[in-house]
Amino acid sequence: MSKHRLPLLATISVLFFFTQLEYLTRTIGSPRSGTAGANQTEGSGISASSIKAARRGLNLTTGESSGSGNKDRSIKVYKPTTDGSPNVAVCLAVKNETLYIDEHLDYHIALGFSPIYIYDNSLDFELNNSHAVFDSFTGANTSWYQSRKDIHQYIRLIHFPQSPVQIPAYDQCIKRDAKDSTFVALIDVDEFVVLKRHSNVVDFVEAYCDFRCGQLSINWQNMGTSGETNYSAVPVLKRNVHYDENRAMHGTIKVIVRVKAVADPMRWRHSVMLKDKYNWVDTNHKVHKYKFGDWRRQSNNDKPLDVAVIYHYPFKSREEFRYRTCVRGTSAHKRGEVPMCDNPGYYELYNGTTFDDTAWRHLMRMVPKYRDYERN
Ligand SMILES: *[C@@H]1O[C@H](CO)[C@@H](O)[C@H](O)[C@H]1NC(C)=O
Ligand SMILES: *[C@@H]1O[C@H](CO)[C@@H](O)[C@H](O)[C@H]1NC(C)=O
Ligand SMILES: *[C@@H]1O[C@H](CO)[C@@H](O)[C@H](O)[C@H]1NC(C)=O
Ligand SMILES: *[C@@H]1O[C@H](CO)[C@@H](O)[C@H](O)[C@H]1NC(C)=O
Ligand SMILES: *[C@@H]1O[C@H](CO)[C@@H](O)[C@H](O)[C@H]1NC(C)=O
Ligand SMILES: *[C@@H]1O[C@H](CO)[C@@H](O)[C@H](O)[C@H]1NC(C)=O
Ligand SMILES: *[C@@H]1O[C@H](CO)[C@@H](O)[C@H](O)[C@H]1NC(C)=O
Repeated sequence: MSKHRLPLLATISVLFFFTQLEYLTRTIGSPRSGTAGANQTEGSGISASSIKAARRGLNLTTGESSGSGNKDRSIKVYKPTTDGSPNVAVCLAVKNETLYIDEHLDYHIALGFSPIYIYDNSLDFELNNSHAVFDSFTGANTSWYQSRKDIHQYIRLIHFPQSPVQIPAYDQCIKRDAKDSTFVALIDVDEFVVLKRHSNVVDFVEAYCDFRCGQLSINWQNMGTSGETNYSAVPVLKRNVHYDENRAMHGTIKVIVRVKAVADPMRWRHSVMLKDKYNWVDTNHKVHKYKFGDWRRQSNNDKPLDVAVIYHYPFKSREEFRYRTCVRGTSAHKRGEVPMCDNPGYYELYNGTTFDDTAWRHLMRMVPKYRDYERN
């Protein structure tokens, strides 16, 4: 390892530490003073009523459009090419992310992920709060869960208020809830799996993860804000369409793991510890070796990006990033004690320079109702 890389590694280690906490601090929350009365249909301000406004903008709940009766708008679930294939589940820990969860689920369901285990880490089980969202189909306030009856067959909602959440949630997911699944993806709501050569995730995993493969890693591409300064009720995949080559964090990985290969303890650190006979592989078919506490389990500096990439949206907009890091605390810390706020060891917000709307185009292809956002 060359000398000049050491500071970078130190920075990355700090970043990894915070990344592990990141799921706890996702945006949105109770209304901030000064924004609760704002005109939510214009999308300004992040508040509980933003969720209702987001739903008014588009009939995300049913996929139906007024008058058109167009059945093509709902999720187009891509099937694997062979019958009796394995399944790829998702373990997803969420908190205060109701504004962002629809596009994440629509996208990954279409790609063939199923079932998606959602661990709702809010104290009050916000995804099942019967007043939380406005259902534009019925015109009533309802729970997020009830508003998404169209995807109930693909999701399993679990109230999981304990803190810290991620490792216990993954543990319950892998060892119990998803124990009969072949694979599980350990991803967050702000991470989207973009496949460059496959239209279905099962086909992708079968092609790159053979019987000795215990986990398949996929490298990150962090997306900038694209100059967005404030929240708006538009999918994040459409709002953030630039990255910055120098800050894309291409070395960081997330993994799709084979359930029966996971060691006990799993020691999640963007990847898991595996039982002895299984390997960590990447999309170059390269086998990676690592020791128990090795931080490199969180990165793959070969950075293969030609087959699959995880598009990661840590910012969304200046306002949402600030809200996430400064306004809301984390359940790993005492309330009010917020380590990420203006912390230079955490992410530094940027617009991004290289245009890349791949994930957005995939979403529009797979879930046609999102094309409505292109009309304006
Ligand atoms: C965010 O989480 C807090 C605490 O769990 C909850 O009181 C609040 O209603 C949530 N806000 C939204 C918009 O989900
Ligand atoms: C909110 O903004 C929308 C779009 O600009 C406008 O049509 C509507 O009248 C506004 N509503 C209020 C209450 O200001
Ligand atoms: C949501 O809440 C209702 C009413 O309390 C309850 O009957 C239902 O089981 C809950 N749904 C889930 C998925 O936990
Ligand atoms: C959503 O669906 C409802 C009920 O069909 C309809 O009244 C409303 O106009 C739709 N909204 C949009 C934006 O298509
Ligand atoms: C839905 O919630 C809004 C506040 O977000 C409230 O003004 C409205 O009266 C509620 N509608 C119904 C039908 O309960
Ligand atoms: C980022 O975008 C915002 C809004 O378009 C702009 O004001 C700002 O100058 C941009 N910053 C950089 C560094 O390009
Ligand atoms: C936009 O976000 C900034 C914080 O970044 C906030 O101070 C401002 O009030 C927001 N503007 C609107 C119109 O909500």
